[in-house]
Amino acid sequence: MSSFDLTIRNARAVTASDTFECDIAVKDGRIVQIGSRLPPCAREIDAAGRFVTPGGVDAHCHLDQPEPPPIKMADDFDTGTRSAACGGTTTVIPFALQQKGQSLRAAVEDYHRRADGKAHIDYTFHLIISDPTPAVLNDELPQLIKEGYTSFKIYMTYDSLKLDDGQILDLLSVAREHGAMAMIHAENADCIEWLTRRLEAAGRTAPRFHGHARPMLVEREATHRAMALSELVDTPILIVHVSGREAVEQIRWGRAHGLQVFAETCPQYLFLSAEDLGIDDGYLGARCICSPPPRDKANQEVIWRALADGLFTVFSSDHAPYRFEGTEGKRPGGEEPDFRHIPNGIPGIETRMALLWSEGVLGGRITREKFVELTATNPAKAYGLHPRKGTIAVGADADLVIWDERSFVLKNEQLHHAVDYTPYEGMNLGAWPGLTLCRGEVVWDGTSFTGRPGTGKFLHCGRPTLLPDRSR
Ligand code: URP
Ligand code: ZN
Ligand code: ZN
Repeated sequence: MSSFDLTIRNARAVTASDTFECDIAVKDGRIVQIGSRLPPCAREIDAAGRFVTPGGVDAHCHLDQPEPPPIKMADDFDTGTRSAACGGTTTVIPFALQQKGQSLRAAVEDYHRRADGKAHIDYTFHLIISDPTPAVLNDELPQLIKEGYTSFKIYMTYDSLKLDDGQILDLLSVAREHGAMAMIHAENADCIEWLTRRLEAAGRTAPRFHGHARPMLVEREATHRAMALSELVDTPILIVHVSGREAVEQIRWGRAHGLQVFAETCPQYLFLSAEDLGIDDGYLGARCICSPPPRDKANQEVIWRALADGLFTVFSSDHAPYRFEGTEGKRPGGEEPDFRHIPNGIPGIETRMALLWSEGVLGGRITREKFVELTATNPAKAYGLHPRKGTIAVGADADLVIWDERSFVLKNEQLHHAVDYTPYEGMNLGAWPGLTLCRGEVVWDGTSFTGRPGTGKFLHCGRPTLLPDRSR
């Protein structure tokens, strides 16, 4: 009998580069051997020729993020990570948000309190920097990067978060000097505000007009400007939640000109379109309000092609969990406000992996290896978690998903988040995780959630390995 804790037999293991038949042995939460006909083990799981991928790394999700009352996110670290685990994700990276006037350290400490003892899977934090004071730029941020908070998000829109170009340049300089990944929400705030006021003056305030206030050119302009700022400082950036053709074209242009620009997209830009925000002035479309907004079928195709051809680095959920009913979510205070006041964001932490496996891999649009690269390996590399996370290799954490390929119709009642809807209700899917292991422990057995709060560990991140090595 071997000294392994667990052996997974007959796996068709998929990594970002290969698919191969093997047994995978686990000890103390790590993969210790990969081979064929490994010795018997007291605990074995037969994968019986099913595909086994690394657990997903969801590098963009929002959990228990502070909000102005009465708004409150439905998912905290308990329900959010439970939902992630049941959908095959074993590491999440939500955001510690600095409020204006708050120290960055205080924001991080507050976010740790929100997570402590609750997470079922491993987690780390990106920072959101809304107030880059000299203290933040010179002391707090460099020190936090040293401590393993090696990525931060910059907003070019939203009144409470947006930074001007000079502030962005300051932050990119810190990223360059100290080795952090800068993520950018690229939308032109002034254009959005101008359009919003005109729509309001014309009485066009229903949810669907959210999309009219954020046409693709506002994303195109901001994407180009973000790349120019990154070029000026000579440091890479990662543009988050890219929605369609015009931003994709900018990123292609930037790459063709030698710029190091990484890009993320999300399920909503593959599966939702402007009609989901409403074809009339009804309120149901509030459920699909997110920014940038979903575009149209032609843009979905552009995003699919860019996933397949390597333009996109990571595929994240951008899970932003607001309930549709009640008073804390999409109907703040029980009202149906103008689109300007509807919380932005949609749920998707549990459906991210299965949607891409079903429609991407089984739909013949991307390879299995590309799936792994986008959902696990590259997010781990982009944010300093690789090779501990995001791959199947000796020494890596035993974060694994065994896939069941079976057809079913997706319903919100099957999901484990605390949100009262999924935008993907009624979709036919061809696969779902049959088993999720986080550091060798089963957290989802295909039918039931089996995790325990507090077993998820906080991860200190290293220097993102997608950044250039400046030590030579
Ligand atoms: O609409 C969105 N995407 N909401 C979440 C916040 C963000 O900007 O990612
Ligand atoms: Zn954003
Ligand atoms: Zn987001």
